[in-house]
Amino acid sequence: MCGIIGYVGNGEAAEFLMQGLTCLEYRGYDSAGIAVFDGRDLRIEKAVGRLDCLKEKLQGNTPAGHIGIGHTRWATHGAPSDLNAHPHADCTNSFAVVHNGIIENYLSIKEELLAKGHHFKSETDTEVLVHLLEDVYKGNFEVAVREVLRRVEGSYAMVFISKKDPDTLICSKQDNPMVIGLGEGENFIASDIPAIITKTRRTYIINDGEMAVVKKDSVWVFNKSGEPVTKKVLEVNWDAEAAEKGGYEHFMLKEIHEQPKAVRDTLTGHIASDNSSVILNELGWTAEYVNSFAKVYIVACGTAYHAALVGKYYIERLARISVEVDIASEFRYRQPIINDNTLIIVVSQSGETIDTMAALKEAKRLGGKTLAVTNVVGSSIAREADQVIYTCAGPEIAVASTKAYTTQLIVMALLGAYMAGLRKTVAPEMMQSLLGNLKKIPEGIETALQQEKEIKEFAKKYSTKEDLFYIGRALDYYVALEGSLKLKEISYIHAEAYAAGELKHGTLALITNEVPVVALATQKSVYEKTLSNIKEVKAREAVVIGIGLQGDKELQHYADHVIFIPETEELLAPLLAVVPLQLLAYYSAVARNCDVDKPRNLAKSVTVE
Ligand code: AGP
Repeated sequence: MCGIIGYVGNGEAAEFLMQGLTCLEYRGYDSAGIAVFDGRDLRIEKAVGRLDCLKEKLQGNTPAGHIGIGHTRWATHGAPSDLNAHPHADCTNSFAVVHNGIIENYLSIKEELLAKGHHFKSETDTEVLVHLLEDVYKGNFEVAVREVLRRVEGSYAMVFISKKDPDTLICSKQDNPMVIGLGEGENFIASDIPAIITKTRRTYIINDGEMAVVKKDSVWVFNKSGEPVTKKVLEVNWDAEAAEKGGYEHFMLKEIHEQPKAVRDTLTGHIASDNSSVILNELGWTAEYVNSFAKVYIVACGTAYHAALVGKYYIERLARISVEVDIASEFRYRQPIINDNTLIIVVSQSGETIDTMAALKEAKRLGGKTLAVTNVVGSSIAREADQVIYTCAGPEIAVASTKAYTTQLIVMALLGAYMAGLRKTVAPEMMQSLLGNLKKIPEGIETALQQEKEIKEFAKKYSTKEDLFYIGRALDYYVALEGSLKLKEISYIHAEAYAAGELKHGTLALITNEVPVVALATQKSVYEKTLSNIKEVKAREAVVIGIGLQGDKELQHYADHVIFIPETEELLAPLLAVVPLQLLAYYSAVARNCDVDKPRNLAKSVTVE
């Protein structure tokens, strides 16, 4: 997964490209580069390593010019190196390209071009694009790019620049994100919104298969057959600082603290003022339609998968419809049983995760009804699904997902209650209590956040451990899964989540006084059993950090430390219990001097299979 950027206008291209790449660095950061037409030649500068390495290289040597492209890379084909960094140029250095995605038929094209005498410098799949452009170019840039698009297969968001057409950028996308920003006397192309938001809020969302011809005063969009496509201007309502750190040391901490607002924004307009029902006008379902669902699948990856597990609980408990949850990268290989009475919900913060997109496409191919839950308006998954419900978390920049998770849980709760309302499977008084408590979640998160200082102390104390367990029952187990992922992905501590009742069937053998155990005990219906599991691990000398409801004296008696969350309905406890686990992971990573926002080996949105 990489970040691409383009500029054409009256300003200095290099200045915008570097600033835009800074905003996109979380998308990939093993190498970076820019190409600028300086009035005579295409100046290409690139460097392996973080963006700072490129900045250093450009010191006093920044190419001047009003049109250019840039790229920050997360390697898929070819190790991180100067040569494999984008942009890539053709043999004559007349064309250059930046690309996010994978060209699946690049080897056959490369063989054909090598046989024609083209010289390749890199090991990347991307380089074939620009040599193919050189090969088919007969004097018309647009026609040549269209021919390249006709020949290549795979996923891409790409931008071409040509010194033969020094006032034009041409871009296209398939299964990867790309947005065009509309300025005054300048236009911008980027992988996503934070890179352009300081310049313009007016954007075009480009659909798969479309090609855009971008000049400083015009943007023309064409479909696959070359017909012009009229685009609606989409106003972006993210404020500029929303994509900045807002005074926090890391995006992740900022986003943890943004959760009350993100949850409030996601709830807005979705609960009747008397808490009697959920409003989801974007669905407009009827009782008959919901009753037609024989089965629901929820499919996702990573944190979104953990939110899907909670979603299963909500829909089954409230709407009494059978739900199956699947990891997206597994879903399409097990020939899922889907027909037009099946609802498939895909959950994806970025709306670009290729495994989730593939599962969505398979679900549609099999005739299922599809619903996307995503955080990015106009994302590929949002546009592919039959219907979409947006979380309103705002940009989530940190690789570790936090506010996306809690807002996904909110949407799951709304959806479960909405379906229950249509099916009349929940008594009115219970619905009122549930929705009333849902509205209080933002305050509950604010209260949970007040224990940040104490959690920071625990984190420091246990951050030297190399192994840690998270245990819980029922919904606590699903939250334990999310808590352990958070810790693993940013602090690199090995953490494992276990159903508390399952420990004694083998894994208990790993519990010693060197293995702290985080025990979630918020589910009253299984509290006594969870308490006995805590005693089990205490008997093996484990240090226990309990996560419990405010005032739980018993938990305080058995656990070494307790982090309390405010009292709430059992169903809604995950929304609060996850907050101390996010903070525990964050401060553990800080104590271990890890790169919290850009952890090793990971990227924010995984657009490779
Ligand atoms: C979450 O902390 C991880 N970074 C990762 O598991 C992420 O949730 C997963 O890749 C799914 O991403 P998506 O929600 O954008 O589809």
